[in-house]
Parts: sequence; C-alpha cells; structure tokens
Amino acid sequence: MTTAAIGKPISRVDGRAKVTGSAKYAAEYNVPNLAYGYIVSATVAKGKIARIDASAALAVPGVIEVFTHEKTKHLAWFDRSYQDEVAPPGSPFRPLYDDEIQYNMQPVALVVAEDFGIARYAATLVRVEYERVAFATDLEQQRAQAYVPPKKRNGIPPPGKPRGDADAAIASAEITHEAEYVMPYEHHNPMEMYGSTVVYEPDGKLTIYEKTQGAPNCQTYVVKVFGYSTGEVRVISSYVGGAFGSGLRPQHQLLLAVLAARELKRSVRVSLTREQMFSLSYRPYTFLPISLGANRDGTLTAIKHSATAVTSRFEDYQEDDVNWSGALYKCANSKFNYELAQLDLNTPCDMRAPGGATGMYALECAMDELAYKIGIDPLELRLKNFAEKDQNKDLPFSSNELRKCYAQGAEKFGWSKRNPEPRSMREGNQLIGWGMATGLWDAQRMKASAKALLTADGKLEVSSATTDIGTGTYTIMTQIAAETLGLPMDRVMFRLGDSSMPMAPVEGGSWTAATVGPAVQAACQAVGKKLFGYAKKIKGSPLAKAKFEDIEFGDGQMRLKGGASQSVALTEALRHAKVASIEEEATAAPGSEAKKYSMYVRSAIFAEVKVDEAFGTVRVTRVVNAIAGGRVLNPKTARSQIIGGVVWGIGMALEEESHLDHQFGRFMNHSLAEYHVPVNADIHDIEVIFVEERDEIINSLGVKGLGEIGIVGTASAIANAIYHATGKRVRDLPITLDKVMRTE
Ligand code: MOS
Repeated sequence: MTTAAIGKPISRVDGRAKVTGSAKYAAEYNVPNLAYGYIVSATVAKGKIARIDASAALAVPGVIEVFTHEKTKHLAWFDRSYQDEVAPPGSPFRPLYDDEIQYNMQPVALVVAEDFGIARYAATLVRVEYERVAFATDLEQQRAQAYVPPKKRNGIPPPGKPRGDADAAIASAEITHEAEYVMPYEHHNPMEMYGSTVVYEPDGKLTIYEKTQGAPNCQTYVVKVFGYSTGEVRVISSYVGGAFGSGLRPQHQLLLAVLAARELKRSVRVSLTREQMFSLSYRPYTFLPISLGANRDGTLTAIKHSATAVTSRFEDYQEDDVNWSGALYKCANSKFNYELAQLDLNTPCDMRAPGGATGMYALECAMDELAYKIGIDPLELRLKNFAEKDQNKDLPFSSNELRKCYAQGAEKFGWSKRNPEPRSMREGNQLIGWGMATGLWDAQRMKASAKALLTADGKLEVSSATTDIGTGTYTIMTQIAAETLGLPMDRVMFRLGDSSMPMAPVEGGSWTAATVGPAVQAACQAVGKKLFGYAKKIKGSPLAKAKFEDIEFGDGQMRLKGGASQSVALTEALRHAKVASIEEEATAAPGSEAKKYSMYVRSAIFAEVKVDEAFGTVRVTRVVNAIAGGRVLNPKTARSQIIGGVVWGIGMALEEESHLDHQFGRFMNHSLAEYHVPVNADIHDIEVIFVEERDEIINSLGVKGLGEIGIVGTASAIANAIYHATGKRVRDLPITLDKVMRTE
C-alpha cells in the first residue's frame, strides 16, 4: 500500500461544509408547509395533571393544534414497552402518554403552530393544574434505600468479583486511605440543541432529519412505537453538533414531532431550547467511597470501591463506575459494589466515558492520597502496582503500553523536577501544583456493515449508517477506504447517518473506529477482489498468474507487491470487464478475541495548576496527556478528540455542576450563563502524546477508540495538582473557589 492515507494528519473532509454552513443539521432543513412544535414542560416534580386548558393557546392566530395526554389517548402506540438499542432495564419514559408527572420539566403538551415564535408564545398560555404528591430528589436522603440493580444493563459488566479478603487486608494494612468522593450532576451541553424535522411525504411515509448518535436506533424506535413498517420511516442524521452520549437514545422531541406529523398529516419540526436541554438526561450524582490498603513499600494490598448512583423511578440506568478499580492495578484483595437509589428525576444517560470518568476520578484521587500517606511519588506508586493482566477477567491484555505513557508524559511535563511537598512551589501569590493520574477506558468493538461502490470513472463511494458526532468519522472512514483500494482521498466519498444505509450501531463507547473501520475495509477489499478477478482476465494481463495475496493497491493501480511495472489500473479492469461499477457490501464483527484478551485504551495525565492564594481561583496552566490507543488513524482528528476530553476534564474538575433545588425537584441553573463550562480563557497549554502501541489482536486495523479516554483521569490529575499547590483536598467536584477556601 503506497497511497498511504492512514496515519496522516488529514483535515476533516466535512470541515469546509461545516464552516461554510452548507452542512445541514436536523432543525435546519427547509421543508414546504412546515409546522413548528414547542414543548410545554411540567413545573412540578411528581403527581398528576388535574386539568389542562389549552383554549387560550388554541385561540392564538397561527396555532394549529395543542397536543396533550388527553388528545393523544386515541393515538396508536403499538409497542409501549419498546426499549431502544441502549435503554437500561425498565420502562422508558413516554411523553404525553398519561396524566402522570414523573419528573420536573417533563413534557406535558406540544403546541404546534405556523411558526416557531407563535408556538412558543402560545405555549405560555397553556394552563396546567397539578395534583402534587411528595417527591424525593436528594440522593443523600435516599441513600439508605439504595439497592443492587436486579437486572443488569446490556453492555455494562457487573462490578468485578471479589478477590481474596479485602476487609481483612484493610484491617491489617500498614497504611490505609479511606474516603468518599462525590460526582455531581452534569448535563450534556452540545452546541446543537435537540431537534427533529419530520417530513410527511405525500404517501404518508416519514423522512426524519434527526439529531442522534444512531439513525437506525431512532428508525426502529419510531417504527415500534407507532407501528410503522421499516420501509415507511427513514431517519437521516448527516451532521451532529456534538452529543456526548445524549444522542444515544431517541429523545422525546422525536416522538412528539412524529406524533404531530401523523395527526396533522403535515411536516413538523420540534426543537428544544437551551433551557429544555436540561429536561433530558444527565450524568448521575454519585457517591464513591473507596478504601485502599498498602504496605509501607507501596505494594497495594486491598482495594474496596463502591458507588451509589442516582437513577429514575422507571429505569435502572447503570454505569461501570467501580470496575476500573479491579483492572487498573495489581492487587490481591478487592471488593466492589454498585448500587442505585431512585429519585423523582428523568433517567440519567451516558455522558462521555460514563462510569470511567466517574469511577476513575475517585480511584485516581485516592491513589494520590495513599501516595502521600506512604511518602512515595504518586507515579512510582502506580508503577509499583502495574497490572500485567486483567485481574477482573483473569485475561492477558491485547496490548498495554501504559508504561510508555507514564515515561513519555512525565518526561514532557518535567515531573522529575517536582518537589512533593504541598505548598512548596509558588510564583508570587500563585501557588503552583503538579498532579498526575492514570486513565483507562474500554477498547470495544461491535458489529457493523458497510457498502462500497466503485464506478467506471474511478470514484469510490462508501457508506454505512454510522454517525459523525464531531469525532472525525467521515474523515477516518474515507482514509481507510482510500488506503484499502489505493485511491487518492479526493476520489473517495464516505456517506453516513442514514437508516437506509448498511447497519451500524449507535456512535458511542468510543467503538466507531474499531467497529465501522473494519467493515469499510472489508467492503473495499471485496471490491478489490472482484477487480482483481477482472484484471486477471484481461488479455496478456501482467497479473494473470498472480494470487490476490501477492498484489497491492496503490496510485489507482493493482500491482504485484514489489513489482510496480506489473500493474493494472482499477478503471482499466472495469473497462475490460465492461461493467459500469462494482458494488459490495460487507459485515465485520468481533471474533473470539474478547474471550481470550482484555482490551483497553490507556493514558497518563500530568497537570499543572496555579491557585490564587487569596481568592482560591484555580487555573489549569498545563496538561500533558499521553495516550496508548493502538494505531492512530489520523493524528489530527485523534488529537482533537483528546483535547476535547481534556477540556471537559478541566470543566469537570473546576466548573460543571447542575444544581437541584429540592423544594421544587428541579434543575435550576439551566442556561449556559449559570451552568459553567470552560471558555477559551480557562484553557491554556494542552499537550497530547500518542505513544507507539501495536495491537495485532484487537481488530484488522489495530485501532482503539479515542473519543472518551481524554476525559478519564483528567479531573483527578487536576484535583491532585490542587492538593499539591494548596495542601487542601477537595473530594466533591467541582473544585470551586469556595471549596478551595473552606475550612473543614
Ligand atoms: Mo458515548 S457517552 O457512548 O456517546
């Protein structure tokens, strides 16, 4: 392969469309005779709708209809129990299904009007009276009722089995550290708000432009809930302005838009406001008690890690918060527990590195605290307890270059110059702190299909129903296709985000590169084999005697490996065979490797903070994140994923938190003015290192996903740096200035 596209820092192939505005997002499609829906949200946390009066709203000129649970009773809901591809066990929330209020801000009505402004205004005139009942939204108070979820969530492994005797080992340990860490609520705040444009076709079929991480998942959902056949519903999601997990499940505006379009026999768009984004899902508030035991020399002798997390009354949402603690470090005695407590809130949902970001935050801060108690360098403590195999699964790793991450990250950061003494480094009134942490995340792979179409003009079009949520899927899939058939990038077009394309799972879990990549490769290889067959049949073909294994694709040619003169152009093979095109579809799925090997992506993060001694304000002035993520398909998009994760890690450490007012059971800071995320001024130097890691086992490309690892561990490195700067341990995120300054 000489037309190497893989491994090059290629700019996004969709970049021009995005910056010029020609890339259309779900709520941007212009459709004739479009009606606009605006959602009315509940203002109480629990109870029943006693009365709902839409007459004033209906009287507004331009209002077409107001849908309430009373009006939707007669509507067809064929499969009321349908759970989407990533649903946790339970019964999914169904908007406008009945008079019950299950959480504050749940939709109670949909006003549909000739334009958005009219709908929004009329929504203020819908009068809703509630019968309120007592509710609970305080995890602290509900903690005593926590339970081990009886039914496991699909894809979430239960906490690792206990090993040895962790309680006895803690009791007899020379050094122990026991503390509780707290993860607050966080809400997904992608740039693009949720929106659905449902096009009601003349024959009653639906074409839906949807913001989602999985067009097929939304298609199946609409089909099941409304009793359509698959051919009647097409979901398109060509561009997604960020999602971070919030688009893994169909959101309620989709159902409401379809409902209205069906009833009105008209195209309808429903989009959410920024405030309404906070009525969707969230990263769950979680208590994370952890106990570590060690010998004086730094050998870990015990790990106990528990989590008590929020879920709703109607679904048992689960994460693998504690599992990482059983896999990352070598330890003979360990015990894990994961519990849920039900609150009167919407169900939480996956948010970038769900479970990993939360659980590893506790583990990696606890390891730092233990290092101080032992009097050992935190990096040395980690190296001392380096895991050579996965003790959770009792399996070897498919690859593990974490040591290189530690070494190269430390070198770049200058870790050896660190004085371990807290408050020992300063610059005027700025206390300087250096902290580090490890990151660990699953290197998963699912099953997916792709189709490749090569036409006589030498152009290749490849498609799969996967998504690009801003990660670079368009670009890396184009690279894989270009490389496999030896074509220049500009001859290859990759399409995605359409339920009519070959099947792919939701874009989540950082699995897309490793899942869709091999399918794209396989489809292109199938085209290549067919071409080769044609090339051999050409009279006097230089490849007549060659086997497929002997040839390579490059510069638009098939040629004998090492014998560039014996070649046939791809277009020539097509021309001689008298075919206008070759189309091949292929499916690629994981084999038995996951039973024989444990597969992870890893990182070492080093952070520098400067803390104002008088004001307690924290700046993260430097972060070095060294990643072991297998083969890097595109260093530019890969780096951009890690930077995004680190930025979020900074937000997680210092800023992000959704505040519940327990008087109302409502998230109160539902705007970007009050829900703080990092802005440019908060972000300083971020350095990303990809260490060399070869993985021959994981998949045909040797690739691991990079979408989530960047956030894992980053908040811990920052929290640890703040301790080093100030001597102050803050275990409840975010570490705001009041916490830095509080006296215990
Ligand atoms: Mo990710 S939280 O699986 O989109």
